[in-house]
Amino acid sequence: MIYPEFHRFLSRADKEQLLGQRGLVIWLCGLSGSGKSTIANAAERVLHQQGRFTTILDGDNLRTGLNSNLGFTDQDRLENIRRVAETAKIFVSQGIITFVSAITPRGELRDLARGLLGEDLFEVFVKASYEACEKRDVKGLYAKAARGEIQHFTGKDGSFEPPQNADLILDTESTSVEDAAFELLEAICDRISLGGDA
Ligand code: ADX
Repeated sequence: MIYPEFHRFLSRADKEQLLGQRGLVIWLCGLSGSGKSTIANAAERVLHQQGRFTTILDGDNLRTGLNSNLGFTDQDRLENIRRVAETAKIFVSQGIITFVSAITPRGELRDLARGLLGEDLFEVFVKASYEACEKRDVKGLYAKAARGEIQHFTGKDGSFEPPQNADLILDTESTSVEDAAFELLEAICDRISLGGDA
């Protein structure tokens, strides 16, 4: 039997008072190359300049450490997202504005994150078609997938279900990174301010 000890620890409100902000998890989902990490990076830099304390949990980066034993089967992605969401939950409980950049390809995975984070989750769909991401192909993965060198590639032989309940949709085929980051910051402004109502 495990007895979690939370009651004796400093509270989230204590941390948020210290930081002068409210914690929030901004979860960016979308295809590989859709612009999730780029938008998170741009938005984080603006917040940092404004004196906000932030972090980014990036799928690619976490897969070199915490999640290095996971691949891209449905089961592994579920465990990947569970770990990312639990980690985000720890950060947000410290009042930290936490960006998550992970494909999160299926409704079941987003429901899992929503179940763990509840009201602390702000879900953003970074929208770009497979064809657009294939054209950008920053990491050369789409070319590899076309040659049949990657299994379960999202959008090809791995499913991608467009989010139905996103709090915000950023279409990176019609919007620049700067504009997308600005739109995101406007949307979360009240949620990260101490004394904000949302
Ligand atoms: S998720 O589906 O479990 O949310 P995550 O965001 O952590 O995925 O990792 C996706 C990254 O892994 C991609 O940006 C890409 O660089 C890399 N990757 C390697 N293999 C695959 C694959 N089969 N499908 C998608 N992304 C892959």
